[in-house]
Amino acid sequence: MTTTWAPSSWHRFEAQQQPDWPDPAHLEAVLKTISTLPPLVFAGEARRLTEDLAMVANGDAFLLQAGDCAESYDDFTADKVRDKLKVILQMAAVLQYSSGVPVVKVGRIAGQFAKPRSSPTEEVDGVHLPSFRGHMVNDVAFSSAARSADPERLLAAYHQSASTLNLLRAFTKGGFADLHRVHAWNQEFVATSTEGQRYERLAHEIDRALRFMGSCGLRTEREPALHQVDFYTSHEALLLGYEEALTRRDSLSGDWYDCSAHMLWIGERTRQLGGAHVEFLSGVQNPLGCKIGPKATAEEVVALCERLDPDRRPGRLTLITRMGADTIATALPPLLRAVRDAGHPVVWACDPMHANTFTSSSGHKTRQLEHILAEVAGFFTAHAEVGTWPGGIHIELTGDDVTECLGGSTAVGENDLDMRYETMCDPRLNGRQSLDLAFQVSELLR
Ligand code: PEP
Ligand code: CO
Repeated sequence: MTTTWAPSSWHRFEAQQQPDWPDPAHLEAVLKTISTLPPLVFAGEARRLTEDLAMVANGDAFLLQAGDCAESYDDFTADKVRDKLKVILQMAAVLQYSSGVPVVKVGRIAGQFAKPRSSPTEEVDGVHLPSFRGHMVNDVAFSSAARSADPERLLAAYHQSASTLNLLRAFTKGGFADLHRVHAWNQEFVATSTEGQRYERLAHEIDRALRFMGSCGLRTEREPALHQVDFYTSHEALLLGYEEALTRRDSLSGDWYDCSAHMLWIGERTRQLGGAHVEFLSGVQNPLGCKIGPKATAEEVVALCERLDPDRRPGRLTLITRMGADTIATALPPLLRAVRDAGHPVVWACDPMHANTFTSSSGHKTRQLEHILAEVAGFFTAHAEVGTWPGGIHIELTGDDVTECLGGSTAVGENDLDMRYETMCDPRLNGRQSLDLAFQVSELLR
């Protein structure tokens, strides 16, 4: 952190991937309003996540970060939030039961509304319009009205985040996430599949373990850890004006926290060392993520660690690698060594999604489950080779029965993609594929 850091100091740096707001005065007015609204999360919660992630950094826990590529304003319902939570709880149960270590659960949720794009404009039949940048900025429809960046959408992001968080807190603290309900998380379309049945068997074993503890005289119904889970929120901190407006000084510690989510990450396209995103996030005390792609050099990654975690605090920084199934074996080990040798106690997480995307012959942006699994396996191999802890996975998924990624035991083929291809951005694993992945990772964790 530079000594001159302030929530607004990023304005002196170049910010990539910011929308072209047609009416800057309107933007200013909306940001001013947001800066007066209550924080969405509290500094103490962010500090607790840092502590949980410190356990991951030490090799004593595993991180599961998962959710939509981009959340939508259109199909926002309690059922959708609940179903996404169900899949994540199922995955966590699988990972935790087989690895025997705690699983830290972080959603790409309650704020994941802004997307970086490879091109600022999109062309259809000779017409050029601004690219879709997520519902926080504009709309997907290809018309100039829909694609115009509208500041009111920032306010909508705040309010949707608030109601999503409200629901998540109710679900995770109010009995829904109770371990005694482990069977109830298995959704119908999952339960009939091979993975769903495998999950049922595991849930049955968890039941037996709970009954056994009960028979030993342990009052499991009085044990809060069995009835509630800590579930944290995260998103890519892309739109810096919005993040600045939600950055508040914590009255207890005097430190600055970005209260839009517990954890914020920097994307692969905005992690320039001298850029505005790195400047902004270097000064807030939330736990941070930073995506690391296959072209990153060891010097660059160590410099990012220096800049984002100069005090080498375990749990502060998670490096989320997204290398590609073919590249990870050569690209990752030098980075693991360099960061370790520089003494940075980072969490290493594997995003096996973003470097394994391709366009199918039917024209859909898709991913193959086999490639995703291969990258995760390569991640574990690289860590075994260097002697570092493969700390977690970062996944794009949904609780819905979509057909966006190929493969899985109830195989989605190229001809099926059209059936329920619902994502607004990148293709997500459906509930069955997510569970399949969790079982495979749990075997690697053993
Ligand atoms: C994402 O996580 O949706 C994303 C855009 O990833 P990356 O920054 O790694 O490309
Ligand atoms: Co994505």
